[in-house]
Amino acid sequence: MRRKVIAGNWKMNMLPNEAMACIEELAKLVKDTNHEVILCVPYTDLFYSLLTAQGTNIKIGAQNMHYEESGAYTGEVSANMLKCIGVEYVIIGHSERRQYFAETDETVNKKIKTALKHELKPIVCVGETLPQKEAGKAVEVITTQTRLALEGLEKEQVKKVIIAYEPIWAIGTGKTATAEDANNSIREIRNEVAKNFSEEIAREVIIQYGGSVKAQNSKELFTMSDIDGGLVGGASLNAEEFGKIVNYDK
Ligand code: PGA
Repeated sequence: MRRKVIAGNWKMNMLPNEAMACIEELAKLVKDTNHEVILCVPYTDLFYSLLTAQGTNIKIGAQNMHYEESGAYTGEVSANMLKCIGVEYVIIGHSERRQYFAETDETVNKKIKTALKHELKPIVCVGETLPQKEAGKAVEVITTQTRLALEGLEKEQVKKVIIAYEPIWAIGTGKTATAEDANNSIREIRNEVAKNFSEEIAREVIIQYGGSVKAQNSKELFTMSDIDGGLVGGASLNAEEFGKIVNYDK
C-alpha cells in the first residue's frame, strides 16, 4: 500500500512569525494523522520552521535548489545547505519556476540527481498548460516531462522521488481537474515510470495531484486509486484549511 503524502507549497508567502504560528496551529490539528505532512517554505522561513516543527509529525521542505554543489552562483542555495540544517524535501521543477525562471527538463533532471545524492527527497512537478490540453497533447507532455526528469536515475533512486501532477491551468485558478481526469493522468505517469524502470517501481512511486486542492475537494481526489495525496498551494497558507485537507479521511 502506498502512503498518502500531503505537502503544502507556501510559494513566496509567510514571514517567520507567521510561519511559526501556522506550524504550531497545524501541528495540533494533524498530530493523529497517518499521512505524511510536509510544508515547503521560503528559504528565510526554513530555520524557524524546522525549529517549530521539531517533535511534531510535520516535515519541512524547500521550494527550489541549485544543481551545482557550490561555487559562483550568486543568490542560489545548494542541496548540501538545505540538508545540513535538517531540510528533508525539496520541490523541483514547479511550473512557476519553469515559466518564470527558465527551469528546463534538463535542469530539473540535474537537480533531482543532486538532491538524491544529498538524501533530500525531491517533489518533482509535471503538468500541461491549457493550450496543450486543448490540443490533445496533455498525456504526451506529462509523460515526456516524467521521462526526462527521471532519466539516468537508478531504480532504487526512483522510489525516493515524489511526483506531483499539477495541470498548470488548475494552479491558483480555482479550477480543479475532476478526480477521474486527475487519476487517469496520474495513471499515465505511473505507466511511464513502469516503461522506463519497472512495474514494481511504478506501483511504489508516490504521485500527488496539485492544482486548487482545498478542504472541499481533498477527499474526492485523495481517495482515487492512483492519487497518493496532494501538493497544495493557496490552501496550505491557512492551518485550519490545510489541517482539514490532511484530515480528509477523519
Ligand atoms: P494551488 O497551487 O493549490 O494554489 O492551485 C498548487 C501549486 O502550485 O503547487
